[in-house]
Amino acid sequence: MLGDKTLAATGIFLVGLFSFGEGIIGGREAAAHSRPYMASIQVAEGDGMKHECGGFAVADQWVMTAVHCLPTGANGRKVVLGVHSLSQAEDTKQTFEILELHNHPQYNPDNYDNDIALIKLDRPFNASESVKSVGFLRAGGIDPGTDAEVETAGWGSLDNLGSRPDMLQEALIRVVSSTRCRRSDYFGRKFTANMICAHKLCPEPCNQPHKMEDSCDGDSGGPLLYNGVVVGITSNGGKKCGQIKKPGIYTIVSHYSEWVDGVMGLGPDA
Ligand SMILES: *[C@@H]1O[C@H](CO)[C@@H](O)[C@H](O)[C@H]1NC(C)=O
Repeated sequence: MLGDKTLAATGIFLVGLFSFGEGIIGGREAAAHSRPYMASIQVAEGDGMKHECGGFAVADQWVMTAVHCLPTGANGRKVVLGVHSLSQAEDTKQTFEILELHNHPQYNPDNYDNDIALIKLDRPFNASESVKSVGFLRAGGIDPGTDAEVETAGWGSLDNLGSRPDMLQEALIRVVSSTRCRRSDYFGRKFTANMICAHKLCPEPCNQPHKMEDSCDGDSGGPLLYNGVVVGITSNGGKKCGQIKKPGIYTIVSHYSEWVDGVMGLGPDA
């Protein structure tokens, strides 16, 4: 158990470490509204709402996210689109109640297999430069291979102490081989065929080329993008961020086309 003084000192050290940098190591603040599909899923806290998870708009009334963000139901959570700063009153923001929550029926809370959920908003969004849906990879599409550079974004913690950014952060990350992520010193058998794992890369200029980080708490539910198309959902399996041998884990979206189409009413029978 760390004493309060140790914690305070660590906090000051981290403030010093991060205040001149670009947020998370391997990440930086995104250009405002450059990722207009980003959703902030928020939960009531006191008089206001607090960011809890990410998500992304896939159609004008649908947001994709991770089951582990809302495992027991919507419980009054809201979805905000058009956000750059969580705290500022941006006129681009559109706030929604959750009309329907569809958690994947085969979600496994022990290993986070099938960590994909769809939220139906209470009304369609008004499309704008700041609010748009994004394409996602379908069955038969080519998933990024080992060492491919992919991108992720979120309002997740900047460090293991849980300090949260106000502005959307983004990071370039690199896919790690499944063979490696299945190793017992990584995720072992908890790493299933429905998962991609990836490490953040160091930004330029970078004096720690081997320092890599994964996405952190609060990034969950957000997108993993390859060539501008969503290929994964930040899942992480509840792991702490920032451990060299624990890359981020992402649900492979292309494995769920049929389920997604069925839920959104786009199936062959619709
Ligand atoms: C879209 O715009 C209309 C007209 O301004 C407004 O009534 C409606 O509430 C807006 N919808 C959302 C989702 O904000």
